[in-house]
Amino acid sequence: MNFSDSEIVGSILKNHQFDSTNNVAEADLVFINTCSIRDNAEQRVRKRLTEFRALKKKKPGMIIGILGCMAERLKDQLLEEEKMVDLIVGPDAYRDLPNLIQTVESGQKAINVLLSLEETYADINPVRLTGNGVLAYISIMRGCENFCSYCVVPFTRGKERSRNPQTIVDEAAGLFQQGYREITLLGQNVNSFSWEEENINFAHLVHKVASVDPLLRVRFATSHPKDLSDELLNVMASHSNICKSIHLPVQSGSSRMLKMMHRNYTREWYMDRIEAIRSFMPDCAVTTDIIAGFCTETEEDHQQTLSLMEWAAYDYAYMFKYSERPNTLAAKKYPDDVAETVKSRRLQEIINLQQELSLRSNLRDIGKTFTVLAENTSKRSVNQLNGRNSQNKMVVFPRKDFKPGDYLDVVVRDCTAATLKGEIALQRTH
Ligand code: 5AD
Ligand code: SF4
Repeated sequence: MNFSDSEIVGSILKNHQFDSTNNVAEADLVFINTCSIRDNAEQRVRKRLTEFRALKKKKPGMIIGILGCMAERLKDQLLEEEKMVDLIVGPDAYRDLPNLIQTVESGQKAINVLLSLEETYADINPVRLTGNGVLAYISIMRGCENFCSYCVVPFTRGKERSRNPQTIVDEAAGLFQQGYREITLLGQNVNSFSWEEENINFAHLVHKVASVDPLLRVRFATSHPKDLSDELLNVMASHSNICKSIHLPVQSGSSRMLKMMHRNYTREWYMDRIEAIRSFMPDCAVTTDIIAGFCTETEEDHQQTLSLMEWAAYDYAYMFKYSERPNTLAAKKYPDDVAETVKSRRLQEIINLQQELSLRSNLRDIGKTFTVLAENTSKRSVNQLNGRNSQNKMVVFPRKDFKPGDYLDVVVRDCTAATLKGEIALQRTH
């Protein structure tokens, strides 16, 4: 989401005669796009700000700004007390940036952290800031109102609102024409997308986007288990260009924890959704997010997380230690009472298990042939290219005269827990 926001900001500024640069020392405007979902993000922002302050000493006209989630939370501290920044703008106020910049140029500090009920930036065609012209992100909804009890997002990014689906399809078609071959539809709770005027739900939207062209791959993130419908799974199964990979955060394997987390599903309900995925698409990868050491978590709750991980055989997971966030339901209602050492140990057990599950999953792929979308030269060697298969696994293979954006059939010969290694099975004609 954050990266997608940077591309929206880039577009708004481009329309006001600003261009992007890779050299921060020559920039007139420097923005840090912030996230406050976990507490170490805040410390990293302060470190970056100190570096930018040093640059500003050499280039006094430089404007330093904060974008995104931390804007609201840290505004007084950063602007008034520590005088670290010139400008602060929240996630729904990016259109106001040209005015805010003018205010700063006239010698004042500028701030707009108002959240909106409508803003989706639907008409803004994001500049693609990095990448190789093959993969792009499209933000299809903003905000979240699930209020998971540990999560700060509903407070920092406001109400959930979906974007006009026609603008999404048009953006996807435009990207395909420019040579992009894979798009990821983004939202905090992407599968609760809903455009009521035309009765379009997420399954309909994905169908429309996948129909742009069979050579345009479609992914989406992040799905909430409570909204994972059979209708969506059916659409996924019936389009070969909708990637067979679902990121389905479970957070915990214990129904007691899930209830306290306000996730709106139980362990059994989540298991039923995984079974539905497997029955519609036996080859579909499933990845997840897990929080270790949430309030009051017992050893038994933790064991339930481990056993669910084994059962689900996740292909990959993002794993976190619980960190209390200000204003959240959990911060107000529950004690953050799992000792730091216990949290760390449980997280390590989760990481160790996932490492084993990822390796097992990759070992099962040895000998199989996958269609891979070529992306980049491998970091390890210029003689290797990498790309991803439909399951979103990274595949490395010997470089020939292929270029990023080509589809190649690769047979897997070897693997690590993180990567599949293969060789070209057959070059496709398109
Ligand atoms: N502590 C730890 N992890 C968190 N996440 C969100 N809030 C917290 C928190 N307070 C994790 C969840 C979510 C992912 C994006 O970040 O697992 O799915
Ligand atoms: Fe946070 Fe829950 Fe919304 Fe995800 S669904 S952004 S965890 S409140």
